[in-house]
Amino acid sequence: MAKSLKGDITVPGDKSISHRSLMLGSISEGRTRIKGLLRGADCLSTMSCMRDLGVSIDDDGDEIVVHGNGLHGLKAPSKMLYTGNSGTTTRILSGILAGQPFETTLTGDSSIEKRPMKRIIDPLTLMNAEISSVKGNDCAPLSIKPSNLHGINYDSPVASAQVKSCILLAGLYADSPTTITEPALSRNHTELMLKAFGADIETGGFSATLTPGNELHGQDVTIPGDISSAAYFLAAGLIGKDSDVFIRNVNINPTRAGIIKAIKSMGGFIEFYNERTISGEPVTDIYVKSSHLHGTEIGGEDIPTLIDEIPIIAVLAANADGQTIIKDAAELKVKESDRIKSISENLTKMGSDVMPTSDGMIIYGGAKLHSAKINTEKDHRIAMAFTIASIPLDEDNVLDDRDCVKISYPDFFETLDSLIQ
Ligand code: S3P
Repeated sequence: MAKSLKGDITVPGDKSISHRSLMLGSISEGRTRIKGLLRGADCLSTMSCMRDLGVSIDDDGDEIVVHGNGLHGLKAPSKMLYTGNSGTTTRILSGILAGQPFETTLTGDSSIEKRPMKRIIDPLTLMNAEISSVKGNDCAPLSIKPSNLHGINYDSPVASAQVKSCILLAGLYADSPTTITEPALSRNHTELMLKAFGADIETGGFSATLTPGNELHGQDVTIPGDISSAAYFLAAGLIGKDSDVFIRNVNINPTRAGIIKAIKSMGGFIEFYNERTISGEPVTDIYVKSSHLHGTEIGGEDIPTLIDEIPIIAVLAANADGQTIIKDAAELKVKESDRIKSISENLTKMGSDVMPTSDGMIIYGGAKLHSAKINTEKDHRIAMAFTIASIPLDEDNVLDDRDCVKISYPDFFETLDSLIQ
Protein backbone atom coordinates (compact mmCIF):
# COMPACT_ATOMS: atom_id res chain seq x y z
CA MET A 1 0.00 0.00 0.00
CA ALA A 2 1.21 3.51 -0.80
CA LYS A 3 2.29 5.03 2.50
CA SER A 4 1.42 8.31 4.14
CA LEU A 5 4.08 10.08 6.23
CA LYS A 6 3.36 12.57 8.95
CA GLY A 7 5.56 13.99 11.65
CA ASP A 8 8.27 16.20 12.93
CA ILE A 9 11.86 14.91 12.99
CA THR A 10 15.47 15.95 13.30
CA VAL A 11 18.29 14.27 11.38
CA PRO A 12 21.81 13.55 12.66
CA GLY A 13 24.67 16.04 12.48
CA ASP A 14 26.27 16.98 9.21
CA LYS A 15 28.83 14.37 8.14
CA SER A 16 31.21 16.78 6.40
CA ILE A 17 31.25 19.20 9.34
CA SER A 18 31.66 16.31 11.81
CA HIS A 19 34.84 15.08 10.06
CA ARG A 20 36.28 18.56 9.88
CA SER A 21 35.57 19.44 13.52
CA LEU A 22 37.43 16.29 14.66
CA MET A 23 40.40 16.94 12.39
CA LEU A 24 40.72 20.68 13.02
CA GLY A 25 40.16 20.18 16.74
CA SER A 26 43.02 17.66 16.76
CA ILE A 27 45.54 20.10 15.23
CA SER A 28 44.42 23.10 17.28
CA GLU A 29 45.73 24.43 20.56
CA GLY A 30 43.35 23.78 23.45
CA ARG A 31 39.94 22.18 23.66
CA THR A 32 37.31 21.81 20.94
CA ARG A 33 33.84 20.97 22.24
CA ILE A 34 31.54 19.46 19.63
CA LYS A 35 27.77 19.16 19.98
CA GLY A 36 25.74 17.21 17.45
CA LEU A 37 28.60 15.12 16.00
CA LEU A 38 27.38 12.39 13.66
CA ARG A 39 28.23 8.96 15.14
CA GLY A 40 28.12 7.31 11.71
CA ALA A 41 30.82 4.80 10.82
CA ASP A 42 32.67 7.29 8.58
CA CYS A 43 33.07 9.89 11.33
CA LEU A 44 34.02 7.18 13.83
CA SER A 45 36.80 6.25 11.36
CA THR A 46 38.09 9.82 11.53
CA MET A 47 37.85 9.76 15.32
CA SER A 48 39.86 6.54 15.58
CA CYS A 49 42.53 7.80 13.15
CA MET A 50 42.97 10.99 15.20
CA ARG A 51 43.25 8.90 18.39
CA ASP A 52 45.87 6.71 16.64
CA LEU A 53 47.75 9.96 15.93
CA GLY A 54 47.96 10.64 19.68
CA VAL A 55 44.93 12.91 20.16
CA SER A 56 42.81 12.47 23.27
CA ILE A 57 39.09 12.61 22.41
CA ASP A 58 36.37 12.22 25.08
CA ASP A 59 32.82 11.23 24.20
CA ASP A 60 30.22 11.23 26.97
CA GLY A 61 27.55 10.13 24.49
CA ASP A 62 26.34 13.70 24.10
CA GLU A 63 29.25 16.10 23.72
CA ILE A 64 32.66 15.34 22.22
CA VAL A 65 35.76 17.04 23.63
CA VAL A 66 38.90 17.01 21.49
CA HIS A 67 42.05 17.87 23.45
CA GLY A 68 44.01 19.39 20.58
CA ASN A 69 47.71 18.65 20.13
CA GLY A 70 48.39 21.82 18.14
CA LEU A 71 49.62 21.98 14.54
CA HIS A 72 52.88 20.21 15.36
CA GLY A 73 51.83 17.83 18.13
CA LEU A 74 50.49 14.74 16.35
CA LYS A 75 52.38 11.50 17.17
CA ALA A 76 53.55 8.74 14.84
CA PRO A 77 50.90 6.00 14.91
CA SER A 78 51.96 2.50 15.95
CA LYS A 79 50.00 0.93 13.08
CA MET A 80 48.54 1.57 9.66
CA LEU A 81 45.73 4.16 9.84
CA TYR A 82 42.38 2.64 8.86
CA THR A 83 39.81 4.92 7.24
CA GLY A 84 37.03 2.33 6.75
CA ASN A 85 34.61 3.32 3.97
CA SER A 86 35.37 7.02 4.28
CA GLY A 87 36.73 8.87 1.25
CA THR A 88 36.54 12.10 3.24
CA THR A 89 38.80 10.74 6.00
CA THR A 90 41.25 9.24 3.49
CA ARG A 91 41.63 12.31 1.32
CA ILE A 92 41.43 15.14 3.86
CA LEU A 93 43.59 13.42 6.47
CA SER A 94 46.27 12.81 3.80
CA GLY A 95 46.74 16.59 3.59
CA ILE A 96 47.46 16.80 7.33
CA LEU A 97 49.73 13.73 7.21
CA ALA A 98 51.78 15.19 4.34
CA GLY A 99 52.95 17.90 6.76
CA GLN A 100 54.02 15.60 9.62
CA PRO A 101 57.62 14.78 10.57
CA PHE A 102 56.83 11.02 10.65
CA GLU A 103 55.85 8.38 8.15
CA THR A 104 52.31 7.00 7.90
CA THR A 105 50.42 4.50 5.78
CA LEU A 106 46.67 4.69 5.50
CA THR A 107 44.07 2.52 3.89
CA GLY A 108 40.39 1.62 4.12
CA ASP A 109 37.90 -1.06 3.10
CA SER A 110 37.64 -2.70 -0.34
CA SER A 111 35.61 0.26 -1.70
CA ILE A 112 38.23 2.78 -0.52
CA GLU A 113 40.99 0.71 -2.10
CA LYS A 114 39.30 1.25 -5.48
CA ARG A 115 38.58 4.98 -5.24
CA PRO A 116 40.85 7.42 -7.10
CA MET A 117 43.59 9.05 -5.04
CA LYS A 118 45.54 10.56 -7.96
CA ARG A 119 43.42 13.66 -7.45
CA ILE A 120 45.24 14.27 -4.14
CA ILE A 121 48.56 12.59 -4.99
CA ASP A 122 49.15 15.02 -7.89
CA PRO A 123 48.67 18.34 -6.07
CA LEU A 124 50.37 17.08 -2.88
CA THR A 125 53.35 16.00 -5.00
CA LEU A 126 53.45 19.50 -6.52
CA MET A 127 53.72 20.74 -2.92
CA ASN A 128 56.78 18.47 -2.57
CA ALA A 129 54.94 15.88 -0.46
CA GLU A 130 56.29 12.31 -0.43
CA ILE A 131 53.03 10.48 -1.10
CA SER A 132 52.62 7.32 -3.12
CA SER A 133 50.12 4.59 -3.81
CA VAL A 134 51.63 1.44 -2.25
CA LYS A 135 50.31 -0.81 -5.04
CA GLY A 136 51.13 1.72 -7.77
CA ASN A 137 47.47 1.90 -8.89
CA ASP A 138 46.79 5.47 -7.70
CA CYS A 139 44.54 4.07 -4.96
CA ALA A 140 44.97 3.40 -1.23
CA PRO A 141 46.97 2.11 0.62
CA LEU A 142 48.83 5.41 0.58
CA SER A 143 52.32 5.86 1.99
CA ILE A 144 53.17 9.35 3.22
CA LYS A 145 56.73 10.28 4.27
CA PRO A 146 58.08 13.47 5.86
CA SER A 147 59.06 16.32 3.54
CA ASN A 148 59.20 20.12 3.45
CA LEU A 149 56.02 21.36 1.83
CA HIS A 150 55.86 24.36 -0.50
CA GLY A 151 52.77 26.43 -1.25
CA ILE A 152 51.22 26.03 -4.69
CA ASN A 153 48.74 27.74 -6.93
CA TYR A 154 46.56 24.85 -8.06
CA ASP A 155 43.79 24.73 -10.65
CA SER A 156 41.89 21.62 -9.67
CA PRO A 157 40.43 19.65 -12.58
CA VAL A 158 37.52 18.53 -10.33
CA ALA A 159 35.12 20.43 -8.07
CA SER A 160 35.86 18.35 -4.99
CA ALA A 161 35.76 19.53 -1.39
CA GLN A 162 37.85 16.54 -0.40
CA VAL A 163 40.65 17.60 -2.76
CA LYS A 164 40.30 21.27 -1.78
CA SER A 165 40.36 20.47 1.94
CA CYS A 166 43.35 18.14 1.56
CA ILE A 167 45.39 20.86 -0.17
CA LEU A 168 44.34 23.63 2.23
CA LEU A 169 45.23 21.52 5.28
CA ALA A 170 48.61 20.58 3.75
CA GLY A 171 49.00 24.32 3.14
CA LEU A 172 49.01 24.88 6.92
CA TYR A 173 52.42 23.11 6.93
CA ALA A 174 53.89 24.78 3.81
CA ASP A 175 56.51 27.54 3.60
CA SER A 176 54.36 29.87 1.47
CA PRO A 177 50.68 30.47 0.65
CA THR A 178 48.58 27.89 -1.18
CA THR A 179 45.74 28.78 -3.54
CA ILE A 180 43.27 26.28 -4.94
CA THR A 181 40.79 27.14 -7.68
CA GLU A 182 37.96 24.77 -8.61
CA PRO A 183 35.90 24.57 -11.81
CA ALA A 184 32.78 25.13 -9.64
CA LEU A 185 32.42 25.80 -5.93
CA SER A 186 32.30 22.63 -3.82
CA ARG A 187 31.15 22.59 -0.19
CA ASN A 188 33.02 25.25 1.80
CA HIS A 189 32.88 23.91 5.36
CA THR A 190 36.68 23.63 5.60
CA GLU A 191 37.17 27.26 4.63
CA LEU A 192 34.51 28.43 7.13
CA MET A 193 35.90 26.30 9.92
CA LEU A 194 39.56 27.13 9.25
CA LYS A 195 38.65 30.80 9.55
CA ALA A 196 36.75 30.23 12.80
CA PHE A 197 39.75 28.33 14.23
CA GLY A 198 42.08 31.25 13.44
CA ALA A 199 43.72 30.32 10.14
CA ASP A 200 44.63 33.03 7.62
CA ILE A 201 42.31 32.09 4.76
CA GLU A 202 40.80 34.22 2.03
CA THR A 203 38.05 33.07 -0.31
CA GLY A 204 36.51 34.52 -3.44
CA GLY A 205 34.78 33.08 -6.48
CA PHE A 206 35.89 29.47 -6.87
CA SER A 207 39.26 30.07 -5.10
CA ALA A 208 40.62 29.82 -1.58
CA THR A 209 44.06 30.96 -0.37
CA LEU A 210 45.61 29.72 2.85
CA THR A 211 48.61 31.60 4.22
CA PRO A 212 50.48 29.48 6.76
CA GLY A 213 51.85 30.83 10.02
CA ASN A 214 48.83 31.12 12.34
CA GLU A 215 48.25 28.56 15.07
CA LEU A 216 44.72 27.13 15.21
CA HIS A 217 42.69 27.52 18.41
CA GLY A 218 40.06 25.06 19.65
CA GLN A 219 36.44 26.23 19.40
CA ASP A 220 32.95 25.28 20.50
CA VAL A 221 31.23 23.78 17.47
CA THR A 222 27.51 22.99 17.22
CA ILE A 223 26.84 20.82 14.19
CA PRO A 224 23.47 21.26 12.44
CA GLY A 225 21.49 18.43 10.81
CA ASP A 226 22.84 17.03 7.55
CA ILE A 227 20.87 18.09 4.47
CA SER A 228 22.15 14.94 2.74
CA SER A 229 20.31 12.88 5.40
CA ALA A 230 17.28 15.18 5.44
CA ALA A 231 17.04 14.69 1.66
CA TYR A 232 15.54 11.18 2.09
CA PHE A 233 12.69 12.47 4.24
CA LEU A 234 12.12 15.53 2.05
CA ALA A 235 11.67 13.10 -0.83
CA ALA A 236 9.51 10.77 1.28
CA GLY A 237 7.18 13.65 2.16
CA LEU A 238 6.91 14.69 -1.49
CA ILE A 239 6.11 11.25 -2.95
CA GLY A 240 4.15 9.89 0.03
CA LYS A 241 0.34 9.91 -0.02
CA ASP A 242 -1.32 12.75 2.00
CA SER A 243 1.99 13.51 3.69
CA ASP A 244 3.24 16.38 5.84
CA VAL A 245 6.81 16.26 7.11
CA PHE A 246 8.74 18.79 9.19
CA ILE A 247 12.51 18.41 9.47
CA ARG A 248 14.08 20.65 12.10
CA ASN A 249 17.58 22.12 12.27
CA VAL A 250 18.88 21.42 8.75
CA ASN A 251 22.07 22.96 7.38
CA ILE A 252 21.26 24.91 4.20
CA ASN A 253 24.74 26.18 3.34
CA PRO A 254 24.34 27.26 -0.32
CA THR A 255 27.21 24.95 -1.35
CA ARG A 256 25.07 22.03 -0.10
CA ALA A 257 21.48 23.09 -0.73
CA GLY A 258 21.10 22.23 -4.44
CA ILE A 259 18.40 19.69 -3.61
CA ILE A 260 16.11 22.51 -2.45
CA LYS A 261 16.43 24.17 -5.86
CA ALA A 262 15.90 20.81 -7.58
CA ILE A 263 12.74 20.11 -5.55
CA LYS A 264 11.34 23.56 -6.38
CA SER A 265 12.14 23.12 -10.07
CA MET A 266 10.21 19.82 -9.98
CA GLY A 267 7.15 21.56 -8.51
CA GLY A 268 7.62 20.21 -4.98
CA PHE A 269 6.00 22.06 -2.06
CA ILE A 270 8.79 23.07 0.31
CA GLU A 271 8.92 25.85 2.90
CA PHE A 272 11.57 27.14 5.33
CA TYR A 273 10.82 28.31 8.88
CA ASN A 274 13.02 29.95 11.50
CA GLU A 275 16.15 30.55 9.39
CA ARG A 276 19.19 31.16 11.62
CA THR A 277 22.98 30.81 11.81
CA ILE A 278 24.66 28.16 13.98
CA SER A 279 28.46 27.96 14.26
CA GLY A 280 28.77 30.01 11.07
CA GLU A 281 26.44 27.76 9.04
CA PRO A 282 22.92 28.72 7.85
CA VAL A 283 20.23 26.49 9.38
CA THR A 284 16.46 26.19 8.97
CA ASP A 285 13.41 24.05 9.70
CA ILE A 286 11.87 22.61 6.53
CA TYR A 287 8.31 21.60 5.72
CA VAL A 288 7.32 19.46 2.74
CA LYS A 289 4.01 17.95 1.71
CA SER A 290 2.81 15.54 -0.99
CA SER A 291 3.31 17.15 -4.38
CA HIS A 292 2.71 16.40 -8.00
CA LEU A 293 6.24 16.44 -9.45
CA HIS A 294 7.43 17.07 -12.99
CA GLY A 295 10.80 16.51 -14.65
CA THR A 296 13.69 18.96 -14.61
CA GLU A 297 17.25 19.47 -15.81
CA ILE A 298 20.19 19.49 -13.39
CA GLY A 299 23.79 20.25 -14.36
CA GLY A 300 26.69 22.70 -14.34
CA GLU A 301 27.61 24.54 -11.16
CA ASP A 302 24.61 23.06 -9.33
CA ILE A 303 26.09 19.56 -9.42
CA PRO A 304 28.62 19.96 -6.55
CA THR A 305 25.80 21.44 -4.40
CA LEU A 306 23.73 18.24 -4.65
CA ILE A 307 26.21 15.54 -5.66
CA ASP A 308 25.35 13.19 -2.77
CA GLU A 309 21.61 13.73 -3.28
CA ILE A 310 21.50 12.50 -6.89
CA PRO A 311 20.38 8.97 -5.90
CA ILE A 312 17.30 10.35 -4.12
CA ILE A 313 16.70 13.02 -6.79
CA ALA A 314 16.68 10.19 -9.35
CA VAL A 315 14.00 8.45 -7.27
CA LEU A 316 11.94 11.67 -7.32
CA ALA A 317 12.45 11.90 -11.09
CA ALA A 318 11.16 8.35 -11.58
CA ASN A 319 8.01 9.41 -9.68
CA ALA A 320 7.62 12.65 -11.66
CA ASP A 321 5.86 13.32 -14.95
CA GLY A 322 8.14 13.89 -17.92
CA GLN A 323 11.84 13.77 -18.47
CA THR A 324 14.64 14.61 -16.03
CA ILE A 325 18.14 15.18 -17.37
CA ILE A 326 21.10 14.92 -14.98
CA LYS A 327 24.36 15.99 -16.65
CA ASP A 328 27.90 17.19 -15.77
CA ALA A 329 27.90 14.62 -12.98
CA ALA A 330 30.67 12.19 -14.05
CA GLU A 331 31.90 12.36 -10.42
CA LEU A 332 29.02 9.98 -9.62
CA LYS A 333 31.14 7.17 -11.06
CA VAL A 334 33.76 7.47 -8.29
CA LYS A 335 31.52 7.61 -5.22
CA GLU A 336 30.97 4.69 -2.79
CA SER A 337 29.65 2.86 -5.87
CA ASP A 338 29.53 3.87 -9.53
CA ARG A 339 26.27 5.71 -8.92
CA ILE A 340 25.42 6.24 -12.60
CA LYS A 341 25.34 2.46 -12.85
CA SER A 342 23.84 1.65 -9.45
CA ILE A 343 21.02 4.21 -9.78
CA SER A 344 20.21 3.26 -13.40
CA GLU A 345 20.28 -0.49 -12.81
CA ASN A 346 18.11 -0.38 -9.70
CA LEU A 347 15.59 2.07 -11.18
CA THR A 348 15.38 -0.12 -14.29
CA LYS A 349 14.66 -3.15 -12.09
CA MET A 350 11.75 -1.15 -10.62
CA GLY A 351 10.27 -0.62 -14.08
CA SER A 352 11.54 2.94 -14.60
CA ASP A 353 12.72 4.08 -18.02
CA VAL A 354 16.29 5.33 -17.49
CA MET A 355 19.15 5.94 -19.87
CA PRO A 356 22.60 6.15 -18.26
CA THR A 357 24.94 8.63 -19.98
CA SER A 358 28.67 9.32 -19.66
CA ASP A 359 28.07 12.13 -17.15
CA GLY A 360 24.68 11.41 -15.67
CA MET A 361 21.40 9.95 -16.81
CA ILE A 362 18.06 10.70 -18.40
CA ILE A 363 15.01 9.49 -16.51
CA TYR A 364 11.72 9.32 -18.37
CA GLY A 365 9.21 9.66 -15.51
CA GLY A 366 5.68 8.36 -15.41
CA ALA A 367 6.32 4.62 -15.79
CA LYS A 368 4.39 2.36 -13.42
CA LEU A 369 6.94 1.31 -10.78
CA HIS A 370 7.04 -1.95 -8.82
CA SER A 371 9.18 -3.37 -6.04
CA ALA A 372 12.49 -5.04 -6.85
CA LYS A 373 15.53 -6.67 -5.25
CA ILE A 374 17.97 -3.78 -4.84
CA ASN A 375 21.68 -4.27 -5.28
CA THR A 376 23.07 -1.61 -2.92
CA GLU A 377 26.74 -2.40 -3.59
CA LYS A 378 27.03 -1.54 0.13
CA ASP A 379 26.56 2.10 -0.83
CA HIS A 380 24.66 3.84 2.01
CA ARG A 381 23.06 6.42 -0.26
CA ILE A 382 21.78 3.79 -2.70
CA ALA A 383 20.31 1.82 0.24
CA MET A 384 18.48 4.85 1.63
CA ALA A 385 17.29 6.22 -1.72
CA PHE A 386 15.80 2.86 -2.74
CA THR A 387 14.15 2.42 0.66
CA ILE A 388 12.34 5.71 0.06
CA ALA A 389 11.50 4.53 -3.47
CA SER A 390 9.20 1.95 -1.81
CA ILE A 391 6.91 4.59 -0.31
CA PRO A 392 4.43 4.84 -3.21
CA LEU A 393 4.58 1.07 -3.92
CA ASP A 394 2.22 -1.74 -2.90
CA GLU A 395 5.18 -3.88 -1.86
CA ASP A 396 8.55 -2.74 -0.53
CA ASN A 397 11.88 -3.03 -2.28
CA VAL A 398 14.20 -5.63 -0.74
CA LEU A 399 17.74 -4.43 -0.09
CA ASP A 400 20.65 -6.88 -0.30
CA ASP A 401 22.30 -4.94 2.54
CA ARG A 402 20.58 -2.72 5.10
CA ASP A 403 23.54 -2.29 7.43
CA CYS A 404 25.45 0.02 5.11
CA VAL A 405 23.17 2.94 6.14
CA LYS A 406 25.28 3.06 9.33
CA ILE A 407 28.00 4.81 7.30
CA SER A 408 26.09 8.08 7.50
CA TYR A 409 22.74 7.47 9.24
CA PRO A 410 22.64 4.72 11.88
CA ASP A 411 18.95 5.37 12.85
CA PHE A 412 17.63 5.82 9.31
CA PHE A 413 15.09 2.97 9.39
CA GLU A 414 13.80 3.88 12.87
CA THR A 415 13.25 7.50 11.83
CA LEU A 416 11.43 6.40 8.69
CA ASP A 417 9.20 4.04 10.71
CA SER A 418 8.34 6.89 13.08
CA LEU A 419 6.89 8.89 10.17
CA ILE A 420 4.84 6.17 8.48
CA GLN A 421 1.17 6.31 9.44
C1 S3P B 1 32.59 15.46 0.96
C2 S3P B 1 32.73 15.88 -0.33
C3 S3P B 1 32.07 15.24 -1.48
C4 S3P B 1 30.95 14.31 -1.05
C5 S3P B 1 31.34 13.47 0.12
C6 S3P B 1 31.73 14.33 1.31
C7 S3P B 1 33.31 16.18 2.01
O1 S3P B 1 33.03 14.50 -2.20
O2 S3P B 1 30.55 13.50 -2.12
O3 S3P B 1 30.27 12.64 0.50
O4 S3P B 1 32.95 16.05 3.20
O5 S3P B 1 34.25 16.91 1.68
P1 S3P B 1 34.01 15.22 -3.24
O6 S3P B 1 34.71 16.25 -2.50
O7 S3P B 1 34.95 14.18 -3.72
O8 S3P B 1 33.11 15.72 -4.32
